[in-house]
Amino acid sequence: MSELIIVKTTEDMGRLGAEMIASEVMGNPEIVLGLATGSSPVSLYKELVRMHKEEGLDFSGVRTVNLDEYVGLPTDHPQSYRSFMNENLFDHINIDPSNTHLPDGMAEDLDGEWARYDRLVDELGGIEIQVLGIGPNGHIGFNEPSEEFSKHTMVVPLTNETIEANARFFSSASEVPREAITLDIRHIMQAKKILLVATKKKKEILKKALEGRISSQVPASVLQLHRDVTVIFSEEE
Ligand code: GLP
Repeated sequence: MSELIIVKTTEDMGRLGAEMIASEVMGNPEIVLGLATGSSPVSLYKELVRMHKEEGLDFSGVRTVNLDEYVGLPTDHPQSYRSFMNENLFDHINIDPSNTHLPDGMAEDLDGEWARYDRLVDELGGIEIQVLGIGPNGHIGFNEPSEEFSKHTMVVPLTNETIEANARFFSSASEVPREAITLDIRHIMQAKKILLVATKKKKEILKKALEGRISSQVPASVLQLHRDVTVIFSEEE
């Protein structure tokens, strides 16, 4: 069953999302959280940091797996997803860095790397709750519109639309990596719960994903088949 919650501000979205994650963490201190990057979950991470600092929310046993990473960006590049996660969450909570996982976009053997990451998520026992944003073309993680839903972690070429959309984080579109490693639709769908956060600018694509035809051309539409999806939509940009 899916639930759509509409809130006024991005701050409300972050607060509500963080409450959901916090109650899962309190219920299972060694939980495996699936995490996402992008601007949409920033307010949620900010609130989790506040809950840790002011209310003692404990992450010491928590394990995390991120959805994706750019290919070819060193870990310490300011736009790598590892840097994003460190800056927005990991550096401010008491998580053990060795329990935080992202694909290695600098691996020499990229095929070996996606296979390792794919196995890792299974070895951790799968994802309890997966945080998602949605791309302007309906992508989740970096599962871009394509002929079929992906069944394993993989290296994917980014579409021009995604390169353009993500250029705002780089000095120009030409600096945006052309490929990424992404967790697949199967692993996302196997998460016990899904929490998708989106703001006003995603209104159209979100409607298409939640109400339109289920199609790998709109990857997020597959979430209609998941039994526990919460969508928090902020009416603010
Ligand atoms: C990137 C990420 C996605 C994210 C999307 C939307 O492409 N790979 O996981 O959902 O951006 O980002 P934003 O929330 O900044 O619009």
